[in-house]
Amino acid sequence: MMFSRRLIATALLTILALTGCSGVNAFLARLGIRPAPAVEGDPVHGEQVFRIGVEGAPPCSACHQVAAGSAGFSLAPNLAGIAVHAAERIPGMAAAQYLEESILHPASHVIPGYHVSMFTGYAAYLSPQDLSDLIAYLMTLRG
Ligand code: HEC
Repeated sequence: MMFSRRLIATALLTILALTGCSGVNAFLARLGIRPAPAVEGDPVHGEQVFRIGVEGAPPCSACHQVAAGSAGFSLAPNLAGIAVHAAERIPGMAAAQYLEESILHPASHVIPGYHVSMFTGYAAYLSPQDLSDLIAYLMTLRG
């Protein structure tokens, strides 16, 4: 036989994970298996999605600031330095995975001091490319 059972199982799980089942993603993460990102992220387009949004969904910038030290009342956490914080939020979870879950399932990780007032419908509006681009942009916010 050319392929081992484990290889086939991993391939099947990866396909399931890439089709967006977060339960499978969490399961894979526990096994230490990370599915390859579906598409390469473009941080320049990601910044546009962040600031302008996509048809039908509010822009991230409606709630989030990204400039370090921006003062004043804010509805949502300032995302300056999120690339660094994202890697530290959940022990054992990579930054990109944390960001994806925070965007698609805002209630999965609630930041102390905030309520889940984030728009919860992004999974239905962001294409896989938009999501990868957004994450690539957020990963440039290092402080
Ligand atoms: C309606 C307001 C609102 C919008 C729009 C919004 N967010 Fe949020 N976001 C929040 C709030 C409030 C929290 C904190 C509560 C929580 O964790 O769910 C949060 C949390 C986050 C976190 C976790 C921050 C941390 O410090 O760990 C990330 C990352 C994030 N949002 C990214 C985004 C991105 C990317 C978009 C656009 C696709 C977006 N948000 C749109 C309100 C918003």
